[in-house]
Amino acid sequence: MRLQHLTLILIGIVFTIGLLGATAPVFAAPAAATAAPGPVVTAALPPGPKAPPSGAAIAQTCAGCHGTEGQLKSAAFMPLAGMPKAQLVQAMHDFRSGKRPATLMRHVAEGFSDAEIDAMASYFAKVKPE
Ligand code: HEC
Repeated sequence: MRLQHLTLILIGIVFTIGLLGATAPVFAAPAAATAAPGPVVTAALPPGPKAPPSGAAIAQTCAGCHGTEGQLKSAAFMPLAGMPKAQLVQAMHDFRSGKRPATLMRHVAEGFSDAEIDAMASYFAKVKPE
């Protein structure tokens, strides 16, 4: 009788361990599933190449003073439309370095990289002066 009890208990223990073993992954699965999306999503988005600067978009920052599309009827600010690319690039670099004295343009030019200056110069060179 005692041996039978022991056997039953042992069977019970083995069965319980077996059940736990079988169910554990089931309970663990949702936790793993909820934890997974974070790293999986970031891993799925490799750092893409930086988009090249858009000259037309950057040119909008000049519009306030030089007129939209670099067109300005007033002579207070030089129109940028149709300015040869090399001339605009040179002017921006000289403003940025302080080589060319300026009231405002040094601060403006300091905000742009070489690539951005190149892009906006290409854009303004293509705009036909009115
Ligand atoms: C806050 C007003 C302002 C903004 C914004 C501005 N400029 Fe100017 N710009 C000036 C002024 C004023 C001058 C005359 C030089 C000086 O005193 O700074 C000038 C001069 C220039 C010149 C020299 C023109 C020539 O005939 O040699 C160039 C080139 C130029 N700006 C390009 C730009 C570009 C490109 C942008 C946009 C990224 C820009 N500017 C934005 C005010 C501005």
